[in-house]
Amino acid sequence: MNKTALEAAFKNHYGTSCLIVRSPGRVNIIGEHTDYNAGFVLPAAIDKAAYVAIAKRADNKVGMYATAFHEDFETSLQDIKTTPLGWPNYILGVIDQIQKSGVELSGFNLLVDGDIPIGAGLSSSAALECATLFAITELFGLQFTKIQMAYMAQKAEHDFAGVNCGLMDMFASLFGKEGHVIKLDCRSLEYEYVPLDIKGYKILLLNTNVKHQLSSSEYNTRRIQCEQGITWIQAHEPLVLSLRDATVAMLDEYILPKDVLIYNRCKYVVEENARLLNACNDLKNGNIQALGEKMFETHEGLKSLYEVSCPELDFLVDQVKGHPAVLGARMMGGGFGGCTINIVKEEAIEGLVANLQPLYEKHAQKPLSHYIASIEQGTSVL
Ligand code: GLA
Repeated sequence: MNKTALEAAFKNHYGTSCLIVRSPGRVNIIGEHTDYNAGFVLPAAIDKAAYVAIAKRADNKVGMYATAFHEDFETSLQDIKTTPLGWPNYILGVIDQIQKSGVELSGFNLLVDGDIPIGAGLSSSAALECATLFAITELFGLQFTKIQMAYMAQKAEHDFAGVNCGLMDMFASLFGKEGHVIKLDCRSLEYEYVPLDIKGYKILLLNTNVKHQLSSSEYNTRRIQCEQGITWIQAHEPLVLSLRDATVAMLDEYILPKDVLIYNRCKYVVEENARLLNACNDLKNGNIQALGEKMFETHEGLKSLYEVSCPELDFLVDQVKGHPAVLGARMMGGGFGGCTINIVKEEAIEGLVANLQPLYEKHAQKPLSHYIASIEQGTSVL
């Protein structure tokens, strides 16, 4: 919905005027599962977003309405806890964080809308958390910085959605800049905007429409496996604080003799970090061919070593590999479903999608959706 339609919907539902915040979803060019290993990521905010319309109310309650589900939820500010309903948890988690920071809120109503496909790996949840946090911050004149907001949204996801995610999604949503990717150092939080200059190519997202139930439990397991690897390395190399500091030689020496599975997980992360730094240089040097090749390598690592892909994602990547108009492709985000990100020559997109659709539908027994993502600004008041 646009601003006028959102204002009208809010007035219709709650009877008052409102403030509206937009917070976008994200893509990630390269650097997957590196954020929680204190490594680098290369995300960007996109033209699909979550919208939160908000206004104060006179009591101590929070009213919520999600346009996507036509569902209401109401609770008291004294009783913020998870609900089986699902979507309110992203909002409740954020309120919980604000209250834990020592801020005393009074009641408000909130209407949630958006056009980020849910479960597509485009971070609809982080976008909703960031939109909510930004909206409450604005409404009550709070003093949170964007970095604080990113951490609070991340903690909300950990505590109320049960996913021990890294900081990438929230950071990208809050800090996005039109036409730029963000090279983020997830340890120091230093970041650099790099122009996404891909000359005649576009970012094409192909959605498998697969939403694996496994994703959060397997995600949390990957984190634990990486931490196990670090513990084994640290026994010999106390200066290694995370996989960011590790080398493949260390993995060969300290992890391989103990456990091949943990070794594979760690090897992927160590290689991916190096790959990202090189890919970033490719982008700066205008060598998008080389960048694209690295995306294929990332997919291979995520599939074979990190094992977070799924047959539908692999099928889509295999289909475009070697296609003259496709520079790179890989699964994107946490894995087990969602989208592949593809760098495709603009004029070839339509034909490529038209060819892929029947093939995918036959193979996966599911429809293939696609989006051309443009890179937009991060969170803001509308
Ligand atoms: C999800 C998480 C992120 C990140 C990616 C994988 O999107 O929310 O923090 O770990 O998976 O790169």
